[in-house]
Formats: sequence, structure tokens, C-alpha cells
Amino acid sequence: MIVRLLYVSRSSGPQTTTVTRSILEQAQTHNAAQGITGVLCQGQGFFLQVLEGPRSAVNALYRHIAVDMRHKDVELLMFEDTQERQFSRWSMALIKLSDQDPMVKLQHPEFDPYSASGAQAMQQLLHWLDSSQPIERVLD
Ligand SMILES: Cc1cc2nc3c(=O)[nH]c(=O)nc-3n(C[C@H](O)[C@H](O)[C@H](O)COP(=O)(O)O)c2cc1C
Repeated sequence: MIVRLLYVSRSSGPQTTTVTRSILEQAQTHNAAQGITGVLCQGQGFFLQVLEGPRSAVNALYRHIAVDMRHKDVELLMFEDTQERQFSRWSMALIKLSDQDPMVKLQHPEFDPYSASGAQAMQQLLHWLDSSQPIERVLD
């Protein structure tokens, strides 16, 4: 049983490269071992992450992530069964959304994941994935 889960959260502190790197390193090691794939969008003070994989593994990881002190206000946006993975290419891809990025500003002037529906937030994530270069490792 493969499921897909989407949540949003607010960063507890500044979204520095150090924090991002440690999250991604943990994610890529652990997720590959657990059959979890997904995408993490980071920027503008929030995280938007989709996790997909075996239901028990996704639940266990979400419980773990939800109590991570590096973020807060973790809110579940969507949880669904799926036949096919949408993000099978990545144990955890990173999309960095820069405040300065004119594309992000222009196309999404007031995207607020906390008031969007799960479907809208997922669409937004897919759009970002389409129109950006996901990073698989954070380089120094
Ligand atoms: C926004 C965010 C996303 C995260 N995504 C993952 C992830 O996809 N996979 C993962 O193993 N850990 C992820 N983590 C880290 C986990 O919360 C946790 O720190 C990590 O699994 C290591 O746990 P441990 O120290 O108990 O082994 C994420 C943390 C944050 C703040």
C-alpha cells in the first residue's frame, strides 16, 4: 500500500544552508532505506514537503518529522492512497524558493499554503518542481 502525504510547516529559525544540509542528508539516507521518495520545498519561512512510500513507513516518518524542533505549526494538507509514485526519482529532492526569485513572486504573489486546499498546495509544488532545478545534494 503506497500512500502520498503532504504537509506544511513554519521554520523555527532562519532557513540556513547548514539546517537544510543536515535535513537533506538525514532524509536521503533514511528515505532510501525505507522506500520513501519525495520533495521538500523550502523558502519564505516555510517548508512544504511531500512524502510517498509504504503507508507504515510514511506514518512513522511523519510522526518523527512532526516533532522536529527545526520547524513548527506542522499541518497535514493531504493524505491519499496511490497506485503510482509521482516522485520516484528522488529520495528527497530539494526546491529552494528564494524570496528574491521574481518568478516565485510574479506567479505566486500570495500563495499561502496554510489557507490553500491540499490539492492546490500539491499543484503548486508540482509547478515549482516543473519550473525549477531540484537539488539532490546541498553543496558547500
Ligand atoms: C522540514 C523537515 C523535513 C524533514 N524531512 C525528512 C525526511 O524526508 N526524511 C528523514 O529521515 N528525516 C527528515 N527530517 C528529519 C527528521 O525530523 C529527523 O531529524 C531525522 O529523521 C533523524 O532522526 P533521528 O535523529 O531520530 O535519527 C526532516 C526534518 C525537517 C525539519
